[in-house]
Amino acid sequence: MKHYLQFSDLNADEYAWIFERARIIKAKFKSYEAYQPLSDRTLALIFEKASTRTRVSFEAGMYQLGGSVVHLTTGDSQLGRSEPIEDSARVISRMTDIVMIRTYEQSKIEKFAAFSRVPVINGLTNEYHPCQILADIFTFMEHRGAITGKTVAWVGDGNNMANTWLQAADILDFKVHVSTPSGYEVDQVLAGVKNQQCFATFKDPTHACAGADLVTTDVWTSMGYEAENETRRAAFASWRVSQSMMAVAQPEALFMHCLPAHRGEEVDADVIDGPQSVVWDEAENRLHVQKALMEYLLLGRVTD
Ligand code: CP
Ligand code: NVA
Repeated sequence: MKHYLQFSDLNADEYAWIFERARIIKAKFKSYEAYQPLSDRTLALIFEKASTRTRVSFEAGMYQLGGSVVHLTTGDSQLGRSEPIEDSARVISRMTDIVMIRTYEQSKIEKFAAFSRVPVINGLTNEYHPCQILADIFTFMEHRGAITGKTVAWVGDGNNMANTWLQAADILDFKVHVSTPSGYEVDQVLAGVKNQQCFATFKDPTHACAGADLVTTDVWTSMGYEAENETRRAAFASWRVSQSMMAVAQPEALFMHCLPAHRGEEVDADVIDGPQSVVWDEAENRLHVQKALMEYLLLGRVTD
């Protein structure tokens, strides 16, 4: 049994498989061809933080694969009343076939996985957001081909998304140019990259964007860090992706944002709503890659 708790839980060969399955599963969806290999399976969705894309993509995706979904939040379950994670994991995993969790510390999802009888998927923690990067790389591949050897510019917070981009670069052999305000650097221990050449850091965000094939950013304040909002607004003022940053990237460079976005904060409206932006494809692809991921975790390498 495999869990998907961070991007480094799968290898390059497994990613190649999942991306190809995502392409096939997306094509079936687009041509209204029913594909229901998980008809007897149940997905438990556990949310301790808010979500739009993650909930809709997992819930719709599981129904489309023929399965069903149970949705739990902290407020309406015993999770919010201090039932031990170990006990919750034992119970939920006896009644369902796969679990997705969005929570705070990575240690919580790791503990859940350790006591779960079924695969557990990380739907975002403070430290990582692997399903989003899975969708982002699939989106890049759809528009520009293989990501191997390409350069991704990360402008902004050294957060869960940034850590996961570094892990992906290490595994899939591309480079991340990271620019964060001082005090908000990526955590190299969390990213855990083996190849130190897979990323480089830049003080000036425009320098990070120079020659990039993809420019990407995220909110200045992630969920759970709201108390730091005002301090962050001041610290991040120069880390807004603008047309001038896009202008130094490759002419064919794409712009991505995992969403939700704040126009006029981390990105200018003319970038996110401009011709280089693929944010809506990126959001939609959460659906297709996660269907491929669930298929892989539950059924292995199926080929129909
Ligand atoms: N990008 C993303 O995970 O969006 P949600 O917070 O809406 O799920
Ligand atoms: N870094 C953001 C991503 C939201 C999808 C957060 O953790 O809130």
